[in-house]
Amino acid sequence: MSELLSIELNGKSTGVEPELPVSSVMGRRVYIETYGCQMNVSDTELMMGVLKRAGYQNASSPDLADVIVLNTCAIRDHAEERIIGRLSQLSEIKQKRPDVIMGVSGCMAKHVSDTLMAQAPYVDLVVGPDSYRRLPELIAEASDDSAMDVRLDRDEGYLGLDPLRQDGTNAWITIMRGCDKFCTFCIVPYVRGRERSVSALEIVRQAQVAAQEGFQEVTLLGQTVNSYTDGTYDFADLLSMIVDVDGIRRVRFTSPHPSDFSDALIDVMAANDEICRFVHLPVQSGSDLVLAAMKRTYTVDEYMALVEKLRNAMPGLCLSTDVIAGFPGETEADFEATLALMREVRYDSAFMFKYSERKGTVAFRELPDTVSEEEKSRRLEAIILLQNTVSGEINQAYIGRVESVLVHGDARKGEGKAIGRTDGFKTVVFPRDGAANNTFVDVEITETTLRTLTGRIVR
Ligand code: SAH
Ligand code: SF4
Ligand code: F3S
Repeated sequence: MSELLSIELNGKSTGVEPELPVSSVMGRRVYIETYGCQMNVSDTELMMGVLKRAGYQNASSPDLADVIVLNTCAIRDHAEERIIGRLSQLSEIKQKRPDVIMGVSGCMAKHVSDTLMAQAPYVDLVVGPDSYRRLPELIAEASDDSAMDVRLDRDEGYLGLDPLRQDGTNAWITIMRGCDKFCTFCIVPYVRGRERSVSALEIVRQAQVAAQEGFQEVTLLGQTVNSYTDGTYDFADLLSMIVDVDGIRRVRFTSPHPSDFSDALIDVMAANDEICRFVHLPVQSGSDLVLAAMKRTYTVDEYMALVEKLRNAMPGLCLSTDVIAGFPGETEADFEATLALMREVRYDSAFMFKYSERKGTVAFRELPDTVSEEEKSRRLEAIILLQNTVSGEINQAYIGRVESVLVHGDARKGEGKAIGRTDGFKTVVFPRDGAANNTFVDVEITETTLRTLTGRIVR
């Protein structure tokens, strides 16, 4: 999952009637800005669902809102710095309108709850990922005094918290929460708590609701989505249940952990074309020594064997990954090994990061951050350069191919152009030619860059 995704999910008309009108909040407007991974995007939809049912409405900008919430990420230092910057910018609104409630939700709320209100005194509300059910109550408390709830609650199963979906073509469904892997660099287990899975029957219900709302694509979300188990059904079972939901034509999931990729899962994927031919398979490093220090629980050989198995089962499978440059103790040879692995796998795309020390993690406590900032930057740049070359080459080979594309919306650049995605998760831009959003079209690819395919509709 990537922290790069930063969306403002506001101002769209929703058509959902509040179930529990609360007269005192009726008509109050809320603005939520989302940072971090898809899990947060999904959580924002869930918070909007809770608030809508309590009588709140969407605000299209923070200037028009009575309640402003930043749904935050703590994965790297940079992510937190951005949020502190944004909060200070938004505090100007609070100066003009002191009644506005400023809230911080999500992973950073949990990570820095003890210092956040001191650092940003204009924050009235701090709410951790397991307390979204209580949001209306907490906002009411925050109107009188500041309110905080960042407890992690093993028993919070998120049942009955139906999301208010903002994306028109893909329905996010969070199927498990938390993480038990404790990779030594990672803050997630500390801010999201222990691993918990939603029951398969509830997930099928949510997929049915999404299909009835018109969604043809669902993405199942979890920090280690393939370690899913509800005690009866595992992830392979769940996928076969989801592909059977009427109206769902594309099923995606993210992020699987390489150590939990069972043969049964690969078999289910291979047997069902509805499951997209795209896997995000975070590798982190191409060195066994670094992988062991990260506690990733697989070796390079095991990872490569998995890649081979996946590709044999699903020819043409697209792959992406996450890579960390400059983990504590990473030597030049370890770094070269990462480049070598990337050359061998040839990922379609990758999220690449400099190691960022996170307070509270094992690496923070036990592994000094030895690689200098300069060296981290040099390694990261080399990794990005290699990946860009490979992505460009892979995409170029798409010229002349016809791809089935689910139309998502208008392309940012280019009059009258639409944007959509292939089954393999590649972004395609093409003249719309009357094609409606949320329909499938066949697009012949005529040009490519390292990030985008360009083409024209042929059917
Ligand atoms: N659960 C997902 C990862 C979630 S975090 C998984 O295991 O695949 C997304 C990515 O952020 C990770 O894969 C990792 O590459 C990166 N990341 C996490 N912690 C980091 C840190 N402390 N410094 C730099 N990158 C980090
Ligand atoms: Fe973090 Fe590792 Fe869990 Fe992913 S698997 S969320 S990287 S601890
Ligand atoms: Fe996601 Fe960032 Fe939290 S990556 S789980 S929002 S720390």
